[in-house]
Amino acid sequence: MKIGIDLISFHTPSYVLDLRTLAEKRGVDPDKFVIGIGQERMAVVPPDQDIVTLAANAALPLLDKAGRDNIELVIFATESGVDQSKAAACFCQGLLQLPSACRCIEVKEACYGATASLRMAAAMVAARPHTRALVLAADIARYDLASPGEPTQGAGAVAMLVSAHPRVLALDPETGFYTEDIMDFWRPNYRDEALVDGKYSTRMYLTTLLEAWKNYKAASGRALLADHAHFCFHLPFTKIAYKSFERLCKAEGVPLPSKEELDRLLEPALLYNRQTGNTYAACVYEALASLLDNAPGQLDHQRIGLFSYGSGCMAEFFSGVVQKGYRQHLFTDAHRAMLDSRTPVTYRQYEDIFNYGVPKDGADHVFAPYRGGPFRLAGIKDHKRRYEAK
Ligand code: COA
Repeated sequence: MKIGIDLISFHTPSYVLDLRTLAEKRGVDPDKFVIGIGQERMAVVPPDQDIVTLAANAALPLLDKAGRDNIELVIFATESGVDQSKAAACFCQGLLQLPSACRCIEVKEACYGATASLRMAAAMVAARPHTRALVLAADIARYDLASPGEPTQGAGAVAMLVSAHPRVLALDPETGFYTEDIMDFWRPNYRDEALVDGKYSTRMYLTTLLEAWKNYKAASGRALLADHAHFCFHLPFTKIAYKSFERLCKAEGVPLPSKEELDRLLEPALLYNRQTGNTYAACVYEALASLLDNAPGQLDHQRIGLFSYGSGCMAEFFSGVVQKGYRQHLFTDAHRAMLDSRTPVTYRQYEDIFNYGVPKDGADHVFAPYRGGPFRLAGIKDHKRRYEAK
C-alpha cells in the first residue's frame, strides 16, 4: 500500500523586504546576499500573524479541497512556538474546524520537526489506512539585526495531508538518519532571536548529509543520479543546495554535472525559498512544493531525493515517488499569485515591524489589521491569544 503526501499547500506573509535594500543599509555588496548565499527577498511578518495563522492559512485551501473527514491526527512542527504548554495544533483544530476525534500535538527538533511529523503521520496511516493526518510546519526565522544570519531570515508555512493512495508523492519506506548532540543553532527560552554559529552549522549540515545519505543508500541500494530525478534540500539559504549536491557527487565519485544540468536538477526547488527566506521546519517541504509547481517537465513516476536537517542536530535523507496526474492536485496558481502580490516594505518599515513583536508585559492588546491570509491574531486578552477569521 502506498502512503504519502496527498496534497501540499504553502503560505507566506504578505510583506517582503528586498535583500538589496538590506545590503545597502548594512554597507554590504548586494551580490553577497543574492549570489553568495542565494537569497533575493525575505518575508516580513506583520504583528497580527504568527505560526498559528500562517499554518491555518496554508491548510485552509487544502481542507476546502479534500474535506475534513477521517483526519485523526494533526501534528504541528515548529521552533517558533507561541505557548510553552498548549500545542499550536489545538489552536488550528479550532480555527480550521477539524474533527474533535483527532489527536493534536506539537513537535520540535529545530528544522527537522516536520520530517519527524511526516514519518509519524505515515506510520499512523499505515496502521489505520482509512484515516488521514494533517502535518503543519510553520516558522518565523529571526536573528539579531545586523548579524550574519539577518539576510537569511524569513517566514512561511506548509500544510500536508497524509493518506493512503496519495495523489502527489508516495513516500519510500527506506530512509537514512543520523543524530549528534551539538550546539550549532539554538534559541534559549529567554530570547526571541536564534543564536547561530553559522559556519559551524553549515559544516555540520554538510557532514550529516553524507552520514544520512550513507545510511539511506545502505537501506535502499539506490544510486545518486540513476535513481533520483531531482533533489530537495533543507534550505537555510539556497546556495547550500549547490554545496550539498557537490558533496554528494564527490562522496559517490560521480563527476559534477555541468552548470546547466545542475540548474536543471536543483533550481526548480529553490525558487520559493529564494523569495521567502528561511522557513525552518517548513523549508524542505516548501522546496518540494516549489519543485512540483515549477519543474519544466512532467514529474510523473519520478523519484525525488529529500534531505531534512535540524540543528542540534538531526538529519534524514529519504525519498518519494511523484504520482501520475499529480499536477491537477497542486496549488500552483495560488502559490504564484501569493508570492507575486506581496507588498514591499522599506528598511524603516522592516525595522519597525521587527521591533514591534508581540507585547510581553501580560497586558491586554489589540492588533491592527494588516494584509494577510484568511486568519489573523486579533489580540491578547487575559493572557489568551485571540485568533479570528477575516
Ligand atoms: N559576491 C558574491 N559572493 C560573495 C560576495 C560578493 N560580493 N561576498 C561574499 N560572497 C560569498 C562568500 O564567498 C560566501 O560564499 P561561500 O560560502 O561559497 O564561500 C558567501 O557569500 C557568504 O559569505 P560569508 O562571508 O561566509 O558570509 P557570513 O559570514 O556573513 O555568513 C552565513 C553566511 C550563511 C554563515 C550566515 O548568513 C548565517 O549564519 N546564516 C544562518 C545559517 C543557519 O540558519 N543555520 C542553521 C540551520 S541549517
